[in-house]
Amino acid sequence: MNREQKRHQPTRCAASPSLALVKYWGKQAGGVNLPATTSIAVTLSHLETITEVRLVDSRDKQCIRVAGCLQDSERYSPFFDNLRATLDHDNWFEVDSINSFPTGAGLASSSSAFAALAFGCTRALGKPVSSGELSRIARVGSGSAARAVYGGFTRLSAGAQQAEQIAPQQHWSDLRVVIAVVDSGPKPISSRSAMSRSAETSIYYRNWIDSSEDLAQLAERAILRRDIEALGSAMRQSYLRMFCTMFTAEPPIVYWLPESVAVIRACERLRHSGIPAWETMDAGPQVKVVTTARWSGRVAEALSRETGNGEILVVGAGAEPRLIGTGAVT
Ligand code: PMV
Repeated sequence: MNREQKRHQPTRCAASPSLALVKYWGKQAGGVNLPATTSIAVTLSHLETITEVRLVDSRDKQCIRVAGCLQDSERYSPFFDNLRATLDHDNWFEVDSINSFPTGAGLASSSSAFAALAFGCTRALGKPVSSGELSRIARVGSGSAARAVYGGFTRLSAGAQQAEQIAPQQHWSDLRVVIAVVDSGPKPISSRSAMSRSAETSIYYRNWIDSSEDLAQLAERAILRRDIEALGSAMRQSYLRMFCTMFTAEPPIVYWLPESVAVIRACERLRHSGIPAWETMDAGPQVKVVTTARWSGRVAEALSRETGNGEILVVGAGAEPRLIGTGAVT
């Protein structure tokens, strides 16, 4: 294959979203997407962003399409500028991406999107990098993407440039996440804007930052011991404290829908009957419930009732980004 053919040969890859069990919410000064809180997460199986990257020869040919829709190139500039500086290259990219799950709806699609993009671009350039380097590159696109370059369980420490893996995918093979897709439409406000509004206007933001490290440590220890009760109670405090900063922002941000609250109540009832069902939510109305393989069917049934037979996904801990080969994604 000559150089020109190689240039047009697409690189196709996949990455899965990173679900925060203890949340990143807020940024530190002094860098792009430097987290203000330590987050602990699991990369999810079965859900994937599939991305195809081609090298193009000029800036005006660079474009990013998600499910065929052209994206605002401004949103991607910091990512590409940093990639150019970090890998010392002068290439441009044509990118096509699709998600196997609702996009921009609070299902962490930006984490898998930028993990896949970082992975795809480094491979298309023929410059594979270490996971740590990939995490730093992905972080510039989206903070949570720093975690999605690893499989299994991860930590992104407050102020850190890159995430780390705390346990591999196989560490907790009977862990399940049951996702109630309450509303698959795009969210009314991006996590980026909601995060900065919470930081600038909520009187509880400082308490959120000050109290988050303890929760991260509790959750990490619980994951290492596979202790779902301890993990669940740290998770619950984390998402509720994060939402307190949103509810008290000016103007307030309320992603929750009546069905979200109904699912939270259903989890409470399941726990009262002895079934582990620990919910969490992100910047959107969907509720993700952590349970075990043994109980995932019962949890899925309960969630389905509360959401009027809405879509329910059952997933586990997933793998790091992978190269698929070549071929069109749309
Ligand atoms: O990575 P971003 O900018 O989409 O922010 C992610 C924010 C949350 O999903 C709410 C929490 C997290 O840690 O993933």
